[in-house]
Amino acid sequence: MRILVKDIVNKEGQKVELMGWVSVRRDHGKLIFIDLRDRSGICQLVFVGKALYEKADKLRSEWVVKIVGQVNKRPPAMVNKDLPTGEYEVLAEKLEVLNEAKTPPFEVGTDGTEVGEDVRMKYRYIDLRRQRLQKNIRNRDKVIAFMRNFLRERDFVEVETPILSKSTPEGARDYLVPSRLYNGKFYALPQSPQQYKQLLMVAGMERYFQVARCFRDEDTRGDRQPEFTQLDLEMSFVREEDVMSLIEEMFIKAVQTLYPGKKIQQMPFPRMSYKEAMEKYGTDRPDLRETKDDPNLLAFCWVVDFPFFEKTDERWTFTHNPFSSPKPEHVEWLMEKKNIGEILTTQYDIVLNGFEVGGGSIRNHQPEALKKVFEIMGLAEERIMNNFGHMLEALGSGAPPHGGIAPGLDRLIMILENEPNIREVIAFPKTGDARDLMMEAPSEVSKEQLKELGLEIKKKK
Ligand code: AMO
Repeated sequence: MRILVKDIVNKEGQKVELMGWVSVRRDHGKLIFIDLRDRSGICQLVFVGKALYEKADKLRSEWVVKIVGQVNKRPPAMVNKDLPTGEYEVLAEKLEVLNEAKTPPFEVGTDGTEVGEDVRMKYRYIDLRRQRLQKNIRNRDKVIAFMRNFLRERDFVEVETPILSKSTPEGARDYLVPSRLYNGKFYALPQSPQQYKQLLMVAGMERYFQVARCFRDEDTRGDRQPEFTQLDLEMSFVREEDVMSLIEEMFIKAVQTLYPGKKIQQMPFPRMSYKEAMEKYGTDRPDLRETKDDPNLLAFCWVVDFPFFEKTDERWTFTHNPFSSPKPEHVEWLMEKKNIGEILTTQYDIVLNGFEVGGGSIRNHQPEALKKVFEIMGLAEERIMNNFGHMLEALGSGAPPHGGIAPGLDRLIMILENEPNIREVIAFPKTGDARDLMMEAPSEVSKEQLKELGLEIKKKK
């Protein structure tokens, strides 16, 4: 029966069966050493004797093999202190090649920073074999599992919401999906589950969360992908403080449990107003770390009291989220559409080491208040009803007061893993210019597909 390479340390003198990838082959004349890699790590195999030597001599990097052999202690001079299995090796008795492999386009034994990103992305399934990425992807799973459990223990329910949805002006540009059954009409991929989660509050779920994929057609950056993942959540009958303290507890416990080597600079997390952040740091996502030399320092902070509206091109638009409620003392201004530039929203952003890792707010749960937001933005009645009629109707159907937040998981995990960009913590990210080089997406489609959709492509000149 197969065992994992990490377990050879408990099997001295025993016969074991191992399966995995050839990481490195070293030829020492009459004997060959192979570093065998599986999901648990690496161990050294030794091949001696003419028949085994000749078989092992054919092995190349990344071939998939099965071996049977005996676990031996290495002579003291041969111990490799860098490997958890480094005091042992396996003297091979049988070797079976399960699959050969083409010469890999780059080395897998390094951290990959020496390889061009385009090649790494094209061969991502090989790139992901390297230890650094294995660690990132496996730790990402641990963080998400921790948060799922944390929320379930507190009575939250994970609910999936649609990916094929409706285009509404929400901030970024939508990804559109043409409809076959209704030519000329389009679904939109959700920029976030914002409206669905509020509708779930109207539906009486009270505590919802979802590990949710979000889609935004904006320029890609180191901390921004066209599709990314939020830990989206919403709660009924709460105020700002309830949502903020829940998230704060979750972040602190996740760090303490999964990253005990990290130090959280200040607890409870400091809070500052948008105004203070801008005056003191010139940004609404200040990096409060006392020293930037310490890769294990985490400086969280909350930024609150954002202006609700800002003027662009002579028009008012929301700064964060049109569904947010103003601060209680400014609700009257919203209802009377006065002092618009001074209305503050209940929005709270959570910032970590200079990155915005989450944002949320208390919502307008009364339809008249939400409608005022759209009126201030200058949307005509017809447009309001077309785009948001369903929300206004739902809010008029017994909507409880509610609010929520959505931490951006990619950014959070990037920082916890000390990575310079979120592509390093996403299994299959897009490149900086929004392409998937491995699948070659986006790609052209057949004439038949276009015809069914009632679409014609006009080539850009
Ligand atoms: P917001 O738009 O602020 O709020 O998004 C919440 C968090 O998601 C992360 N994020 C991104 N991560 C990677 N790539 C992107 N393109 C990207 N865009 C955003 C950030 C951000 O803080 N529905 C509201 C949440 C709410 O009000 O409950 C929303 O989506 O970490």
